[in-house]
Amino acid sequence: MIVTVTPNPSLDRTYEIPALERGAVVRAAGDRVDPGGKGVNVSRAVAAAGHRTVAVLPLGGPVGALLAELLAAHGIEVEGVPVAGPTRANMSLVEPDGTLTKVNAPGPELTPAESEALLEAVRARSVGADWIACCGSLPRGLPPEWYAELVARTHRAGARIALDTSGPSLLAALREGPDVVKPNAEELAEAVGRPLATVGDAVKAAEELRTMGAGAVLASLGADGQLLVDATGTYYASAEVATVRSNVGAGDASLAGFLTAGGTGEAALASAVAHGAATVQLPGSVMPTPADLDPAAVITTLDVPNDRPLKEPVWTGASPASKGAA
Ligand SMILES: Nc1ncnc2c1ncn2[C@@H]1O[C@H](COP(=O)(O)OP(=O)(O)OP(=O)(O)O)[C@@H](O)[C@H]1O
Ligand SMILES: [Mg+2]
Repeated sequence: MIVTVTPNPSLDRTYEIPALERGAVVRAAGDRVDPGGKGVNVSRAVAAAGHRTVAVLPLGGPVGALLAELLAAHGIEVEGVPVAGPTRANMSLVEPDGTLTKVNAPGPELTPAESEALLEAVRARSVGADWIACCGSLPRGLPPEWYAELVARTHRAGARIALDTSGPSLLAALREGPDVVKPNAEELAEAVGRPLATVGDAVKAAEELRTMGAGAVLASLGADGQLLVDATGTYYASAEVATVRSNVGAGDASLAGFLTAGGTGEAALASAVAHGAATVQLPGSVMPTPADLDPAAVITTLDVPNDRPLKEPVWTGASPASKGAA
């Protein structure tokens, strides 16, 4: 059973529009509503893979109620923590050529009592769970140390933690020793405070995150595949994809694939890549089912191509994180 934590969930509305014209009334040809948020995406992918999952999340107002209904319809158990502020609704505008414009609402500001209730709900639900996947940015009102506190509490309850977040909240949580962290290339570069140009640069950065406290680092590198750096060594895996339709949620599906395959070692890495590759071939943020996966397309190796330039090299400016890491 996999528990997910989404501190700032959303209801995602997507409108298909002929063209985005500022200042005009734009008539949509179609619209849809999906549950949103990174932990929610992981739960959707875990459920699509046929495994049990519980989504822990703050819920407020009518949007929160609708979100809970949609999650239940996806086969996800919902542990909703009632909050006073209304759950946010985000909007995506998709044009025929695939151009995506997003408007994301800030979401409610959580009170100290709501923050504590959310931590307590996670701790209670972590009993008997195989993994707790904590994903995404923190809403207003939660301090950057919130994930660190969550890791400390759930570890005391005996569960393993996978963390997918970035910036100061990632750095603070590393000190509590999360079992797995899943940065993408940009998040990895930001965490170590320097640019990544090659696969080898990403390996070095991932190793540094381990010295900062992570048990294992599953680094997703977009079209360049993924790295798993753990106590036993470094594995690299990738899969060729003919046509990329939408990379939205590919990282979240990867984490779900990793955890449902045991959350450790080469086979779990291969599952992560199979899930990522399948997701980019599906529209929007649709999560893959077992029928969508092509495990035979995944190449896994201990012979990491360190000199290979990244297809999308990442250059970040100095960040607060870089000062701490330098
Ligand atoms: N263009 C691509 N071609 C092939 N595979 C891809 C491509 N983009 C993504 N993937 C697969 O999906 C995985 C996750 O993608 P990515 O690294 O972009 O995650 P992410 O930035 O965390 O995504 P998100 O947070 O939006 O879910 C990659 O490691 C890779 O396996
Ligand atoms: Mg991601």
